Parts: sequence; C-alpha cells; structure tokens
Amino acid sequence: MKAEILENVNLKGDYFQVRFAAPEVAAAAKPGHFVHVRIDERRDFMLRRPFSIKDAENGVVTLLYKVVGKGSAALSRLEKGACCDLMGPQGRPFTPQPDHRALIIVGGYGAAATWQLTRSMPGGVVLLGARSTDDLLLVDEYKAAGYDVRVATNDGSMGKKGFVTELIPELMESPQDKPFFVYGCGPKPMLMALAALMRKEKMEGELSLDEIMCCGVGSCFGCVVKVNDESSPDKFRYARSCKEGPVFPAEDIYIGE
Ligand SMILES: Cc1cc2nc3c(=O)[nH]c(=O)nc-3n(C[C@H](O)[C@H](O)[C@H](O)COP(=O)(O)OP(=O)(O)OC[C@H]3O[C@@H](n4cnc5c(N)ncnc54)[C@H](O)[C@@H]3O)c2cc1C
Ligand code: FES
Repeated sequence: MKAEILENVNLKGDYFQVRFAAPEVAAAAKPGHFVHVRIDERRDFMLRRPFSIKDAENGVVTLLYKVVGKGSAALSRLEKGACCDLMGPQGRPFTPQPDHRALIIVGGYGAAATWQLTRSMPGGVVLLGARSTDDLLLVDEYKAAGYDVRVATNDGSMGKKGFVTELIPELMESPQDKPFFVYGCGPKPMLMALAALMRKEKMEGELSLDEIMCCGVGSCFGCVVKVNDESSPDKFRYARSCKEGPVFPAEDIYIGE
C-alpha cells in the first residue's frame, strides 16, 4: 500500500528514522514483523528493501534504518509528504512469553526489530552491542521503557569492551524470579555465536535473521537459511527467511557440527 512519509530524520551518523502513515500495516504489525519497501517509483528501485517495523502505533509505522547502499540512501533523501509502497507486515514475528522475563540481545539496528517487545514484555533486560558508540541505538529509549540496559562495544567506547554475547555470563549469575526467554537480532556472525551459546547453556529463545531478500513473499528462494532437519542426510534443510522467518526458534538454526 502507498504510505505517506510523516517524518524522516537523521538520528546520528548513518542512522535515520522514518514514520509512515500506514494504518492497515500498523494495525496488523507484531514485534519482529518487517515491511518490504519500494522506495520510489523509479525503475532502478524496482526491488523492494526489507526493514523491521520498529514501532506501530496510532496508524503510524516507524522504521529505523542505516544507510548502507543505494536504496537506503534514496530513502534517507525522501522528505515529509513523499510516498513509498509498503508491503506487509511480512514474515513470522517474535512470540511474547508472559511466563518468562525478556532477555533481548541485539547488535546495531537489530535493536529496532525487538523494540515493540518492551510493551508486550515489560521489565526485561536488553544487551545492546555495536562496533562503537556511534552504532549504538535506542539506549535511552530502552531505559525509559523500564528495561535493564547493558552495553558492549567492540572498541570499548561504551560499556564492556567486546562482543555483546560476553555480557551473558555475568547476567546469568544473578538469581531471577522468572526464567529468561531470549529475543535476538543482529549481524549473522553475532546470531550464530548466540545460537551456539544458547544451545550450550540450554537457553530458550527466538532469533531474527537478517538475510538479503528479493521477492519477500516466499517465491524466489533468494533468502534461504539452513535450519536443523534430523530427517535429512545432511541434518539440515533450507528455509525461506521471508516466509518461515525472519524469526526462528533458536534451537532450529543450523550451526553445523
Ligand atoms: C528482515 C529484515 C529486517 C531488516 N531490518 C532492518 C532495519 O530495521 N534497519 C536497517 O537499517 N536495515 C534492516 N535490514 C537490512 C536492509 O534490508 C538492508 O540494509 C537494505 O536492504 C540495503 O539496501 P540498499 O539498497 O541500501 O543497499 P544495497 O545497495 O542493496 O547493498 C549495500 C550493502 O548492504 C548489504 N545488504 C543488503 N541487504 C542486506 C541485508 N538484508 N542484510 C545485511 N546487509 C545487507 C549488501 O550486501 C551490501 O554490502 C533488514 C533486513 C531484513 C532481511
Ligand atoms: S525473498 Fe524470495 S523467497 Fe524469500
């Protein structure tokens, strides 16, 4: 559907936030859903780009995005009143678990995909990771939502120096009223490391995989990821992340031997 831009602002560095008037998409959006966006009507942007729905309230859909290439750069130049075509909400969303405490573990703009969980699962913990302070997103927002925020940066410019997964052992030492349920999103190497750690520590959760997508509706097989399949000789099968994902149970993600 055609959606008008209400606001498109630079948050910092290469990161922008755009708000669309899109009442139908907003009404159906759940945490972890994405929209497939046709950025403008010109021929060189025929291919849509997928972005997580950061927020969806009062008929407004908010996306938080990083400028990495042609499409996201073109989006960043659009002003209030311009329109994009939004297809969605797409994919399989996260599953809120009221009997658990949310443990959100994210890298970079992955923080947008999990943001809506602060409403359905209040009082959780979020581990925010990034290369450096410049790539850390939504720290104050998660704090304002009542989340216990812990930070790791690769260069040590904020929080613990190292990978976001290195914050987990310390957290596990403190007793919890409810068991944690992990919600993860971020770059693939981070998610594979997280999936392996979760398997070792027997932690439950779901991870949202960020695969390059083409059709976004399950027709082209351009977005496949490996998931466990005991019935296959290779012990895995390919799943379309736009249709069966992007959110997968962590235990389903194939991490090899
Ligand atoms: C389900 C899903 C949710 C996403 N949510 C967000 C979000 O909330 N915010 C955000 O900024 N981005 C998000 N992305 C990534 C976003 O779709 C890409 O950054 C975007 O499509 C790049 O388009 P482009 O034309 O600017 O770059 P291109 O010119 O197409 O590519 C530029 C560079 O970006 C890389 N790239 C392209 N697509 C992806 C991708 N899917 N993942 C990682 N790298 C990619 C390319 O390999 C290349 O190196 C999401 C992707 C998926 C699949
Ligand atoms: S992007 Fe075409 S099948 Fe997923």
